[in-house]
Amino acid sequence: MTLRTLDSLGDLAGKRVFVRCDFNVPLSDGRITDDGRVRAALPTLTALLDAGARVVTSSHLGRPKGAPDPQFSLAPVAERLGELLGRPVAFASDTVGSAAQEAVDALEDGQIAVLENLRFNAGETAKDDAERRAFAEQLAAFADVMVSDGFGVVHRKQASVYDLAQILPSAAGALVAHEVSVLERLLEAPERPYTVVLGGSKVSDKLGVIDSLLPRVNKLLIGGGMAYTFLAAQGHAIGKSLVETDQIETARGYIQAAEEKGVELILPVDSEMAASFSADAGHAVAPSDALEGTEFGADALGLDIGPETARLFADAIASSTTVFWNGPMGVFEFPAFAEGTRAVADALTRASGLTVVGGGDSAAAARTLGFADDQFGHVSTGGGASLEFLEGKKLPGLEVLGWA
Ligand code: 3PG
Repeated sequence: MTLRTLDSLGDLAGKRVFVRCDFNVPLSDGRITDDGRVRAALPTLTALLDAGARVVTSSHLGRPKGAPDPQFSLAPVAERLGELLGRPVAFASDTVGSAAQEAVDALEDGQIAVLENLRFNAGETAKDDAERRAFAEQLAAFADVMVSDGFGVVHRKQASVYDLAQILPSAAGALVAHEVSVLERLLEAPERPYTVVLGGSKVSDKLGVIDSLLPRVNKLLIGGGMAYTFLAAQGHAIGKSLVETDQIETARGYIQAAEEKGVELILPVDSEMAASFSADAGHAVAPSDALEGTEFGADALGLDIGPETARLFADAIASSTTVFWNGPMGVFEFPAFAEGTRAVADALTRASGLTVVGGGDSAAAARTLGFADDQFGHVSTGGGASLEFLEGKKLPGLEVLGWA
């Protein structure tokens, strides 16, 4: 079964359309620090407004506890959306209360209103089906049809993502449809050589995706904090580097499985070892078989892959035809430990073929380091959602749109 897309909803002129976006953007002092997810919503919103629809949109932001919490207000998002759309955007200070009702009633054809954070309402994330459904019914009263365009949240069985799409005629927006079509190419018949680069701190976050992708790839590169659990599995002393001792056996299993399947598993051959976890810590490069051999001894911790590893990874990536990257190679927020992540991002921009940056940390890392989204084949807006998709899991927010 394929996804129902916008055209299945027919002519939307004069219709009230509820668009579920993922505007879960990072904020600092009430200001948006990365508006990637707001920009990603523009194609669908613009198409609907140009078609004369009355657009009602909303999202979650952060994880408020089912009640209003000003630090998670969508007000800054509504303002940014107005700037990016170049049109007035009305903002309702509640989600399903009188302010929302007024904003929806005031809409004319081709106009848009943002309703306050969906998670200010306990029904949005309720585990109880009836409670979730009741909240979805309240949202449904504001619209004739529903468009699901928040890819980052399609792995959540939540009222605005799942139940609402059952109550109203619904379809995937352009962003969700595009994300699914790109990520599907990483699972079904990817062009080879196919390389997956994984980083980030925890092996335990990536077990599902390694299980799913290991049989499909030609090369698997592992960096970031999670690499030290693999290096420990190989018997290396890793100083005070991050390690999940309960995953060492699992890592050993992956090393063996890669060998049996003929997958080239590339682990760091060197690391940038630091005296402590801080931006200005003293640091020195050490080979993987002597990570405790720097002047910092056994107290050292690896905060980035080393230059030789960066070269190895960059070569493997640049010579691949399909590349998926999820997770930074080091503590990229500290300039001294950003080189490995920079090298990986840069290699992706040079690979010919399909390059995909997984959402969340990796997309933020690439942008922080000065890379633009259009330098990559695709930058996913979904962190958890893209990983769960690649794990082959059934995602409630996609199943409800007809995808199987
Ligand atoms: C994300 O940031 O990955 C999405 O917006 C989902 O957010 P959640 O993990 O709070 O559901």
